[in-house]
Amino acid sequence: MYNSRISGLGFYVPENVVTNDDLSKVMDTNDEWIQERTGIKERRHVVKGTDTTTSMGVKAAQKAIERAGIDKDEIDFIVFATLSPDYYFPGPGVLVQRDLGLKRTIGALDVRNQCSGFVYGISVADQYIKSGMYKNVLVIGSELHSHGLDMTTRGRGVSVIFGDGAGAAVLTREEDTSKGILSTHLHSEGQHAEELSLIAPGMGKRWVNDIIADADPEDTSYYPYMNGQFVFKNAVVRFSEVIMEGLQKNNLGPQDIDMLIPHQANLRISQFIQKKFGLKDDQVFNNIMKYGNTTAASIPIALTEAWEAEKIKEGDLVVLAAFGSGFTWGSVIIRW
Ligand code: ACO
Repeated sequence: MYNSRISGLGFYVPENVVTNDDLSKVMDTNDEWIQERTGIKERRHVVKGTDTTTSMGVKAAQKAIERAGIDKDEIDFIVFATLSPDYYFPGPGVLVQRDLGLKRTIGALDVRNQCSGFVYGISVADQYIKSGMYKNVLVIGSELHSHGLDMTTRGRGVSVIFGDGAGAAVLTREEDTSKGILSTHLHSEGQHAEELSLIAPGMGKRWVNDIIADADPEDTSYYPYMNGQFVFKNAVVRFSEVIMEGLQKNNLGPQDIDMLIPHQANLRISQFIQKKFGLKDDQVFNNIMKYGNTTAASIPIALTEAWEAEKIKEGDLVVLAAFGSGFTWGSVIIRW
């Protein structure tokens, strides 16, 4: 048996900054409301015709591969997490295999676990490496939300929260099993699937021809829906549970955490968790203020920024935790 360790990290966000004041010009909202409820000051939106979910993922991956000190053709497998793929099918994993210009016809897997997508992706990659099947696995989380949001007052409860961007990590075989990813913990509760969802177009209820045939200006089925307060209540409970589960599995406690990287859902959720575990400001990393909630990309973007700012050192106990649509949630315990 081996462990896997994160050998390279990278992130990419589009240049176009959209402030809360910018949003208040197209919908009835304001900087005070957004900052008070979510902590967000600005986010990035892709300008149409420039980046895609895949191209942002490729740019983040190129950095991660370079920092891992490997050639791109040493990558054995790709895991791509997103809820906003370029195409309905095929998924972006194969597009990355093509656009990175890989010589080998390695496998590419797409993960559909929304805000928990990167944590699920890390867990999948970790199992492949632990079993000895692969040596280097590329895990990407990338989202292009902005093109699919309702940017009117009707959609303001959701659209002010989300931003575009991508993050990537290379996981590499580690012979020393006291280091690297110590454990991963995954959960779901499908009975709340519709509480945070985008229903159409889908084969279940409404396909594109139904939407066109109805031509209903009140139709919001193709915009994301979120029962905000219900999501909030579940998030704080599940975040706490799954962090504790991971710590206990490794005979550790909250006092052992050097750096917690929570999914950047909402600053108030992160602050709740920080208080609950008695963590100091330098033990929790938040960057939702700058990028909004980038769903599957939020953890790899935050992890990369924390690492670039030298807030993570060798030997540190790093905890990743996520909760989101599904509901799905999970944690990753890492000895850096
Ligand atoms: N600007 C101004 N006013 C707004 C906006 C906005 N962008 N959005 C909603 N409002 C109004 C509502 O219309 C409502 O007005 P009313 O009282 O006249 O009816 C009022 O503000 C309160 O609306 P609520 O939806 O009740 O606001 P709430 O306090 O619940 O805050 C929020 C909404 C921030 C989404 C909150 O529920 C929350 O933090 N939920 C957690 C979910 C979350 O963080 N999701 C992130 C994505 S999911 C994930 O990543 C896990």
